[in-house]
Amino acid sequence: MKVGIDLIHFATSDYFLGMDTFAQEKGQDVNKFYVGLGQEKMSIAPPDEDIVSLAAKAAEPILQQIERQAISAVLFATETGVDQSKSAGVFLHRLLGLSSRCRMVELKHACYAGAAGLQMATAMVKANPQERVLVIAADIAKYDLNSSGEATQGCGAVAMLVCAEPRILEIEPGSGYFTDDVMDFWRPNHRSTALVDGKYSTKVYLNSLKQAWEHFHEQTERGFEQIDYFCYHIPFTKMAEKAHQTLVRKVGLEYDAAQEAKTLPGQIYNRVIGNSYSASLFIGFISLLDNVKESLAQKRVSFFSYGSGCVAEFFTGVVQDGYQQWLMTQSHQQQIHSRIELNYQTYLQFYYQVDFAQSNLTLPHFNRGPYRFCGLEGDKRIYAEYSENSTTSG
Ligand code: HMG
Repeated sequence: MKVGIDLIHFATSDYFLGMDTFAQEKGQDVNKFYVGLGQEKMSIAPPDEDIVSLAAKAAEPILQQIERQAISAVLFATETGVDQSKSAGVFLHRLLGLSSRCRMVELKHACYAGAAGLQMATAMVKANPQERVLVIAADIAKYDLNSSGEATQGCGAVAMLVCAEPRILEIEPGSGYFTDDVMDFWRPNHRSTALVDGKYSTKVYLNSLKQAWEHFHEQTERGFEQIDYFCYHIPFTKMAEKAHQTLVRKVGLEYDAAQEAKTLPGQIYNRVIGNSYSASLFIGFISLLDNVKESLAQKRVSFFSYGSGCVAEFFTGVVQDGYQQWLMTQSHQQQIHSRIELNYQTYLQFYYQVDFAQSNLTLPHFNRGPYRFCGLEGDKRIYAEYSENSTTSG
């Protein structure tokens, strides 16, 4: 029985900050961002957008195509959780009208948890082919102003339906793992922004890739030449490019245009969205599916997931025949192209607006999406759903 991704869709926020605006404000050469980091824009979440509203926006177009009451579990991966106890998936459960006969759990390990969710969902379906698992990876990447990480912010959510006989990607058995207790990036409980040892984190990322690759190769005996396209975790696109260069050289090959073409289409969306932590690898995969002109049917794609701290995994999947008809390319591109550009002042307003020290909070309406985080009532989060004719909240 084949198991894997049946449908996949992403959502991002309605606003972005251009790296040209950013560079001008910081007094830096814009090519440091365009060329040095490989980033043109970053999606910025307004105060009334959070991981739950982003996740709902990502998942709804999938649920419209299936029997939503059949979803048997939601695995919600995030490192920007909205509550220390209640899982974000339970808020999502109500917004999406899922069955009460459904399990919810939140998964965390930095940017890695989305891949963990996908592998767990695959194992659940293998154990019981009736399972239809919704895997969500959603994050808002936020660093201190004027820190090295500020240029690598962004946000996004990916929803993936995992089931038997998938229409888009079969996940192949066998993975390479690597874990090491390092402090390259972390976010203590009292902080809303991450702390990072930036240059060190890039070294740990590349070492983790080499270690996870070795383990993958030992476990599966699949070689580099048997992989057609390569997706990497993308904190900024230059990092993914360096990752691919590192892997190409590790297997004794030369990095040339042919090698570059195996990974570049998987960076197109991330270049204008920025880092979305746990979602980033899968936005990269969607970018590959939407942007490679040749048919990807029966092509093997590799996935390298890296979560600071650190946990990494390398695995592969095979794209299924007829996958093209199930892609939601138009929705992805329309979201990216219809975003509103922020000036630096409004970016700062968004950055500072939510004061969670208050237990009652009504947020101004910036989010144009179908789901919205409205604020707090007695410390309880309030969400609303906007359809063409109605508004519901709770
Ligand atoms: P920085 O100090 O801002 O930048 O830090 P830099 O001075 O090192 O410059 C960056 C690159 O731009 C360099 O190229 C420069 O040469 C080049 P490189 O040497 O790397 O090849 N450059 C220029 N190029 C063209 N024209 C110019 C120009 N000027 C400079 N005029 C750093 C960069 C990545 C450290 C910073 O952005 C940062 O701290 N980012 C956050 C951490 C991060 O993203 N780490 C990545 C690996 S860890 C990871 O991926 C996990 C993560 O997603 C979190 C999670 O797991 O949850 C972060």
